[in-house]
Amino acid sequence: MDIVPFVDLAAHHAPLRDQIQEAVGKVLLHGKYILGPEVDTFEQGFAAMVGAKHAIGVGTGLDALRLAFEAAGVQAGDEVIVPGNTFIATALAVSAIGAVPVLVDCDPVTYNIDPSLIRPVITRKTKAICPVHLYGQAADLDAVLAIAAESGLKVIEDACQAHGTKCNGRGCGSIGDLGTFSFYPGKNLGAMGDGGMVTTNDDDLAAKVRRIRSYGELKKYHHVEKGVNARLDTVQAAILNVKLPRLGWANDNRRRAARLYERGLAGIPGIVVPKGPDDEFAHIYHLFVIRTSRRDELQQFLNQKGIQTGIHYPIPIHKQPAYAELASSGARLPVTTTIADEILSLPMFPELTEAQVARVCGAVAEFHRA
Ligand SMILES: Cc1ncc(COP(=O)(O)O)c(C=O)c1O
Repeated sequence: MDIVPFVDLAAHHAPLRDQIQEAVGKVLLHGKYILGPEVDTFEQGFAAMVGAKHAIGVGTGLDALRLAFEAAGVQAGDEVIVPGNTFIATALAVSAIGAVPVLVDCDPVTYNIDPSLIRPVITRKTKAICPVHLYGQAADLDAVLAIAAESGLKVIEDACQAHGTKCNGRGCGSIGDLGTFSFYPGKNLGAMGDGGMVTTNDDDLAAKVRRIRSYGELKKYHHVEKGVNARLDTVQAAILNVKLPRLGWANDNRRRAARLYERGLAGIPGIVVPKGPDDEFAHIYHLFVIRTSRRDELQQFLNQKGIQTGIHYPIPIHKQPAYAELASSGARLPVTTTIADEILSLPMFPELTEAQVARVCGAVAEFHRA
């Protein structure tokens, strides 16, 4: 059976094979394997794409979040407000420095943090808010920034799914105090291994992130704080330099596929299709997430038809054993709790063809007729 894959990284990289091999070959020959020139080049290119003054390459998206929180002054015992509906790494980065993630429910239409629920959970211990641009859609940053300003809180954007997303014309990751990105292979801009980036317009915060990512050193063997080793790998930077110029094309194609899905799924009973943002550039469709009360059955049906899907995410943070201490916050997370049983991510990647989208939509319609 002809499979419609969930993502197709091999197809994505095929036209870039020679360029990638050449770029990696250069690293092999020059031998500057740690923070080599490719990392500088990528940091500059990425900063320009985001529209931020600084970009600092780090090991993973989780590292990016952790370093951003530390640079923002979050310490052990502090509280950081994060959405309940996100990948667990957003919360893990808070926990990694001994701070406490405080979960806030999401908006039932955008699935992003609901800003109207932030004020009630702010306490004397709150240091920062971390809105996540989930699935590639800009969170309501204006509302978050206004709340942060009135309470003296830092804003760290989790843009790990939002490479190139715009929020009122400005790049996500360039608007809060710091922005964080992941280059996990399946992201809209993905490496061939792990990678991450912190972005900021603040010179001091940038210098601090640079120090922390490399043992807290000011210069070699002079350590001014207790840092970590969380540097972006030079080989990954070389690959990302090849891929960065194609990000705009890739995001445009994902938006095109999203419009096809919207048309193809319109009117199918029992299916909630994501409401596209008013500003088309406010969504890069890292994921195209529909909802249905018969999610598990639908997923199985599509699987039998050769259509791969995903669930992002099946178990919310407050229900994970790792966060047993947050279980009671489930009471204020009704939307997050409900949608975890209903969401289904359909195939989405830049090379997805019109015929493949039609096949997925046809199968979803067939399921609901049965
Ligand atoms: C929203 C979000 N935050 C954080 C991360 C962590 O990134 P990484 O996998 O590079 O550690 C990811 C990606 O996996 C993510 O999707």
